[in-house]
Amino acid sequence: MNLPESLKLSGRWVETTMDTTSILTSIEVGGVGLVRLNRPKQLNALNSVLMEELTQALEAFDRDDAVRCIVITGNERAFAAGADIREMAEASAVEMLLRDNIARWDRIRCVKKPIIAAVSGYCLGGGCEMAMACDIIIASESAQFGQPEINIGVIPGAGGTQRLTRALGKSKAMEMVLTGRTMSAHEAQAAGLVSRVVSVAAYLDAALELAREIASKVPLAARFAKEVVNKAFETSLADGIEDERRWFYFLFATEDQKEGMKAFIEKRPPEWKGK
Ligand code: CAA
Repeated sequence: MNLPESLKLSGRWVETTMDTTSILTSIEVGGVGLVRLNRPKQLNALNSVLMEELTQALEAFDRDDAVRCIVITGNERAFAAGADIREMAEASAVEMLLRDNIARWDRIRCVKKPIIAAVSGYCLGGGCEMAMACDIIIASESAQFGQPEINIGVIPGAGGTQRLTRALGKSKAMEMVLTGRTMSAHEAQAAGLVSRVVSVAAYLDAALELAREIASKVPLAARFAKEVVNKAFETSLADGIEDERRWFYFLFATEDQKEGMKAFIEKRPPEWKGK
């Protein structure tokens, strides 16, 4: 891989980027920012402290030139078992509205660098919505996906009805949301929700390896690729194609496009500058 020196130096779990109570962060070898959700006793239930720390960590990685791709993970037993039910059980509708905890999810949607979810165990409710808010899902064989909110008297509130329907199609998404049943990793892969299923022992390394590969690509091209693929979920085909074409042309203003095509013609590896 042709990484700048600054991306080759950092090591596994050596560089903690902020003081947090509910997540662990590090910058991994190869320009990968890693966030580990860390409320294991609560199966990483997403309370407001965790969500604020996660959002801030993602925004910090997005600003940091040493990071080119981000991985979010939990532990083997749980990616996340949903929004924290204890935190919201007694809240009134007005309190929920005024707290507007879900607004943080819009900030996650604004992160420009690619984000991979490395999922093992329970990935339910807000946890499943979190994985779907990422750009790629790598699952362990033990992963279970579901939107069980109907079993506690509500519906998905952080994008589940929309993202699951776009990922699975109406009939399957409707079945999942109306019954609250869970889907195995292999069923999720067959349905198109998950890109790869690997063993429990290997899922995090597989996600980190994929992240390193993405981190080795041209950062601006990765940024616009993410933006226009996501546009496919939000706009008409004609508007999406127009956007794609605009960013394709724009990339000819970058030094990395000149270097990439020149290196191809000269039959040598490219040296990316990130500009
Ligand atoms: N919120 C708060 N605490 C949770 C939690 C959640 N979503 N999920 C699990 N926990 C806690 C449990 O209360 C338990 O804590 P205690 O030991 O203090 O009692 C601990 O995590 C371990 O959980 P279990 O003992 O229940 O473990 P289990 O293996 O028997 O069951 C489970 C695991 C099937 C995931 C079960 O915990 C469960 O059903 N959890 C709730 C899943 C859910 O309904 N998620 C949707 C939440 S609503 C939402 O996410 C809304 C949204 O769209 C934003």
